[in-house]
Amino acid sequence: MGELDGQVAIITGGASGIGRATAVRFAAEGAAVAVLDRDGETAARVAEEVGGSAHALDVRDGEAFARVLRAVADVAGRLDVLFNNAGTGDLRPLHTVDDKLWHRLIDVNLTGTFNGIRAAAPLMLEAGRGAIVNNASVSALTPTRNEAAYSAAKAGVVALTKSGALEYGPSIRVNCVAPGHVRTPLTAVWEQFPDVFDPVARAIPLGRIGHADEIAEVVLFLASARASYITGQTVVVDGGISLPQAGTDVALAELFERFSPG
Ligand SMILES: NC(=O)c1ccc[n+]([C@@H]2O[C@H](COP(=O)([O-])OP(=O)(O)OC[C@H]3O[C@@H](n4cnc5c(N)ncnc54)[C@H](O)[C@@H]3O)[C@@H](O)[C@H]2O)c1
Repeated sequence: MGELDGQVAIITGGASGIGRATAVRFAAEGAAVAVLDRDGETAARVAEEVGGSAHALDVRDGEAFARVLRAVADVAGRLDVLFNNAGTGDLRPLHTVDDKLWHRLIDVNLTGTFNGIRAAAPLMLEAGRGAIVNNASVSALTPTRNEAAYSAAKAGVVALTKSGALEYGPSIRVNCVAPGHVRTPLTAVWEQFPDVFDPVARAIPLGRIGHADEIAEVVLFLASARASYITGQTVVVDGGISLPQAGTDVALAELFERFSPG
């Protein structure tokens, strides 16, 4: 028996990376999955793969988001899970972020998540049950340089998660996942510079960057009845990368190597 047998799940940004891996995982657990993405063509391919439906949607459009959610719930007769996963990033110094980029990063990452919760809540409240999982990032909790707008947007996602949990319990649980470095098209640029990235991977306590299905596994847990007493939480899934203090840990390990006896 699957963990999501008979349930209907909506995944935004489901055409690629973490969203696609979660669509595959949810479907394997018996859910009917609706794959929402601004790239409708790729969403359709993923939907075919998981035996679900595809819907072209830009999460920044709140009205369209609500329409798609209602249509999915009407056709299926229920809506159990929403994974607000669509997101986008950019790297540049804070003072060089222009208005257009600031608004794009805030709108896709934060407003998109807000639009999803706002559209799903009435349907789930009416049914008296539901689980929402949002995708933030470790950058929401421990930002690195040159991703100020992205980190601020993702910190907003963590706050929205807590607000949603307060307002919609006991019917709806709202939780959040905060991935570290995960190999997806979003982070593919890293792979082009192994001289820069390999030391980063070595500094991760678990010694490597993550796989999308390792995030999907945690999303499944938070969406499932196994997490029935968890709400308002942000689960960090980062191989421990947010533990070391700005490289001090790596430097101290090297010092220890140099001065340790034998
Ligand atoms: N990959 C990582 O290392 C990492 C780390 C932390 C957080 N995240 C977060 O995980 C989520 C998924 O990232 P990923 O790495 O799988 O990226 P990805 O680029 O592989 O997938 C993102 C998907 O979102 C879709 N999308 C982008 N903007 C959209 C919009 N406005 N409306 C609808 N769909 C849109 C894209 O078309 C794409 O299919 C994002 O929210 C990202 O910020 C990723």
